Amino acid sequence: MTKKRISIFASGGGSNALKFFEYFENDQDIEIVSVFTNNKSAGVIEKAERFSIPHNVYNRNYWETGEVIIDHLKDQKVDYIVLAGFMLLIPSELIRAFSNRIFNIHPALLPKFGGKGMYGMNVHRAVKEAKESESGITIHFVNEHYDEGEIISQVSCPIALSDSPEEIAQKVLRVEHENYPKVIAEVVRKSI
Ligand code: GAR
Repeated sequence: MTKKRISIFASGGGSNALKFFEYFENDQDIEIVSVFTNNKSAGVIEKAERFSIPHNVYNRNYWETGEVIIDHLKDQKVDYIVLAGFMLLIPSELIRAFSNRIFNIHPALLPKFGGKGMYGMNVHRAVKEAKESESGITIHFVNEHYDEGEIISQVSCPIALSDSPEEIAQKVLRVEHENYPKVIAEVVRKSI
């Protein structure tokens, strides 16, 4: 049986991407075959190199239609795409080409604290301002609207009123690392 092939899209440090590289390193059914980024100085590149996973840098212009990127993904025979801190909008052509095969993680409990402009620290600052007693993660399919695709899994974590946005971010990131690869493994294995 041929393994299911996942490509990771990331724009930043890539701590979630690293968890995927580790989790699937010796997996029988699933492999991480590539990384796509819009940022040539993204930390994820060095992490991918450590695992000998090829990376592809496409600047912002290429993400407007996604045409070249779709061809590249097809050449690589990619089955699924995992967004791991990818900060540009995925073009609708790409979403159509990989319908129900693109996953995202959002660092809060959607539908709260989602939508345009809600990414990274902006999310954790908003959670702090709203004086929430919990935050968490939402793993969902990607559709053409920011953060509105079907929810696959949510995991919450308690936060204290005294937590800074940075402390909330750390707590949430820990929950991301523990759950994201595991949840995606379950979804992809179901399709095998
Ligand atoms: C993660 O917290 C992820 O949930 C968030 O960016 C961070 C990337 O960290 N994604 C979004 O805000 C997407 N809307 P990482 O580069 O260390 O994995």
